[in-house]
Amino acid sequence: MFAAVPSATLLGVEGHRVTVEVHSSSGIPGFLIVGLPDEVCREAKDRVRAAVISSGYSWPNKRVTVNLAPSSDKKVGSGLDLAIAIGVLIADEQLLSDDVQPAIGTLGFIAELGLDGSLRAVPGMVPLVAALAGLRPVVADASHREAMIISDEPVLVGRCLRDVVEAMRGTCPWPDPPVDRVVIEPTPPPDIADVRGQMLARQALEVAAAGGHHILFVGPPGSGKTMLAQRLAGLLPPLEPAAALMATMVHSAAGVTLPPGGLVTRAPYRAPHHTSSIVALVGGGTASLRPGEISLAHGGVLFMDEMGEFSPSVLDGLRQPLEEGVVRVARARATATLPANFLLVAATNPCPCGGGAPGACQCDDGARARYLRRLSGPLLDRFDLRVPVARPEVDELLIGEPGESTVDVARRVRAARALAIERSGSLNGAIPAPMLDALAPLDAAAKRLLRVELERDRLTGRGYHRVRRVARTIADLDPLAGEVVSEGHVALALQFRVRLSPLLGGRAA
Ligand SMILES: Nc1ncnc2c1ncn2[C@@H]1O[C@H](COP(=O)(O)OP(=O)(O)O)[C@@H](O)[C@H]1O
Ligand SMILES: [Mg+2]
Ligand SMILES: [Zn+2]
Repeated sequence: MFAAVPSATLLGVEGHRVTVEVHSSSGIPGFLIVGLPDEVCREAKDRVRAAVISSGYSWPNKRVTVNLAPSSDKKVGSGLDLAIAIGVLIADEQLLSDDVQPAIGTLGFIAELGLDGSLRAVPGMVPLVAALAGLRPVVADASHREAMIISDEPVLVGRCLRDVVEAMRGTCPWPDPPVDRVVIEPTPPPDIADVRGQMLARQALEVAAAGGHHILFVGPPGSGKTMLAQRLAGLLPPLEPAAALMATMVHSAAGVTLPPGGLVTRAPYRAPHHTSSIVALVGGGTASLRPGEISLAHGGVLFMDEMGEFSPSVLDGLRQPLEEGVVRVARARATATLPANFLLVAATNPCPCGGGAPGACQCDDGARARYLRRLSGPLLDRFDLRVPVARPEVDELLIGEPGESTVDVARRVRAARALAIERSGSLNGAIPAPMLDALAPLDAAAKRLLRVELERDRLTGRGYHRVRRVARTIADLDPLAGEVVSEGHVALALQFRVRLSPLLGGRAA
């Protein structure tokens, strides 16, 4: 006898439809799974057999062959277990497919089986259920909420294999979906009003958010770098529907708990520790090519605190995604392209001792250079904004007025982003150098200022382009500015360029 049962498998952040074909024939009893199963998927043999038996059904005394079609795709993980079990019971005529309601071809099954027959949630429910479009998903109790986010069809649940088989036979109704626990309001992100003083750094955050400019804070310990960086994501607008769905897919595929409403609608904020492995950061590693932190930050902010402490291989692994907005991961025969378009905010001390009070630094040039070399070259090049942060004045902390709130700054950010998108279809951080004259024209005084910087060798060619992009964003945030970028905008952009000498040979690169 033969059965074909729909299911799905996860690769990267995409679900792929799989048809579980089960054939049973007389001959030497055995159980074989073919069609590119990975290790975990192959072990379904043991889980499914145990689950079928402990649910009170009998294991066929036949030769059972399972083919996972299409055979060209790799099948990963344990989510096919339930479909395999249903297929075995149909092929063995313990479950008569003609009697099944709703009809077998209209259902798609995604759940892992425990040895006791229980149904377990698997990661990636959102992309997996998306791959079942047009079918009614049958999932574990615990997957109901995640499956509901994406399914057009009502989602059917079971706590165990028996629940599903008996409901399909019509001997029992389908179990009710679990009642949602009390929905907790997500805590709001930290407010930028908490930061006293630090005018330049706060303005730089606003510019970073408005223009999509990667930003590096350089300053001694206790100067508020971490505090500032944590406030960047809150300045970003909520995700558009398509971006929210993509972010939700990524979070689901990575097995990260989704927010109370289901969809990830806020710009994500991820702050991986500097001891994170390259796999944790860029993704891959597992057979399903799990998304890493840079993909979880897609559409939002990746914060790398103490950037120089990250391993050189991790820093190197960021270069390609920063250029392309996606990351390609591969393992064995599988490859996947994962989204990784994020705004990078990083913080570093200026030197091994941290700098501290002016003049207090004891580090020699060699030590300073070695310290900053870890951030050197191509990666450092990605930061349009490199902002010096000094320790706040005592008075600023004690009697300083709270600054503007996140809500107020975010409003300006939103307007500036809309201007840029209307002008060029992208944020200013992404303006290609040849387009700068057309999209960010300079007035005469602005040109003179940049000429001086270039002539005094305080600006490299690339630095020049970055300053112009940043100045464009500053102009877009300036209610009095028109389409032309003026001297004041360029002057402020130049202030967002801490000199990282001697690493850069005294140039502000
Ligand atoms: N400008 C500021 N306004 C208010 N509190 C500040 C400010 N700068 C620093 N702090 C306080 O000092 C603490 C240390 O700041 P932090 O961001 O950890 O510094 P860094 O990362 O540069 O070492 C913060 O948690 C905050 O309480
Ligand atoms: Mg810090
Ligand atoms: Zn030092």
